[in-house]
Order: sequence, then structure tokens, then C-alpha cells
Amino acid sequence: MYSEKVMDHFQNPRNVGEIENASGVGTVGNAKCGDIMRIYLDIDENQIIRDVKFKTFGCGAAVATSSMATELVKGKNIQEAMKITNKAVAEALDGLPPVKMHCSLLAEEAIHAALWDYAQKHNITIEGLQKPKSDIHEGEETEEEEY
Ligand code: FES
Repeated sequence: MYSEKVMDHFQNPRNVGEIENASGVGTVGNAKCGDIMRIYLDIDENQIIRDVKFKTFGCGAAVATSSMATELVKGKNIQEAMKITNKAVAEALDGLPPVKMHCSLLAEEAIHAALWDYAQKHNITIEGLQKPKSDIHEGEETEEEEY
């Protein structure tokens, strides 16, 4: 049911971890399943994403899509990163079963939430970026989220 690439990214996820003093951090939850994803972005003065890390309390498809999404945004500028949709991530993984497409949204939303956080901190506007709907702020988290 899963492509080899999905299995590979699930078993060997890239860019797992956190970034201290990240330029932007986004945490989103999936209302359907309750899974949570956090993405850290390190963005340089030319608005290039120098580094990216993620943590998830989510299913295998969420792990694989986040891993692939971090690979896709690394080294890109923020405008290019905005264009990376969950569909693009799923395609890069050679597809996801339809019932798992909602999992791939977590990665896209978490990247947008982290970019939003960065934009807020730097007082800039990123074209096409909207305030994340499901951003979970520090302090609103529950114990279970400590993974
Ligand atoms: Fe929750 Fe996949 S089932 S993210």
C-alpha cells in the first residue's frame, strides 16, 4: 500500500530534531486524528532556509511526508518554500494512499505556521501566507505532547 520512498522516509526520517533559537517554529494538529507536528526553520538574512528540523507525534505517513517536506524546503528561499504543497510532497514520495492524504497536510501546514512565526518575528509579509488555523502555541500543549 505504501511506495518504497514512503517506507524509506518512514524508516529513516531525515531532519528529525529541533533547532535552538529557530527563526520560525510552527506546531499544528490534525483535527481528524489528533496527531501533532512541529517544524523548526533556520532562515538566513537572504531569506534562505538554511536548516529545518521536525518532530511529530503522528502516523507513519505523517513522518514520511514531513521528512520529505523538510528535504524539499531545505536550501530554498521562503517564496519557493511557500509553493511546496502537500500534493507536491506526496508526489515526491511516489504517492500516498487516498486515506492518508490528510496526513500530508500536517507537513504543509506546519511549514506555513513556521513561516508565519518567522514573518511575525521579523515584521514582514510573505505573499500568499495566511495565519495558520491550527497553530498550537507554547503553553497550550498537554503532557502527552512530550515525545
Ligand atoms: Fe494522523 Fe496520519 S493518521 S497524521
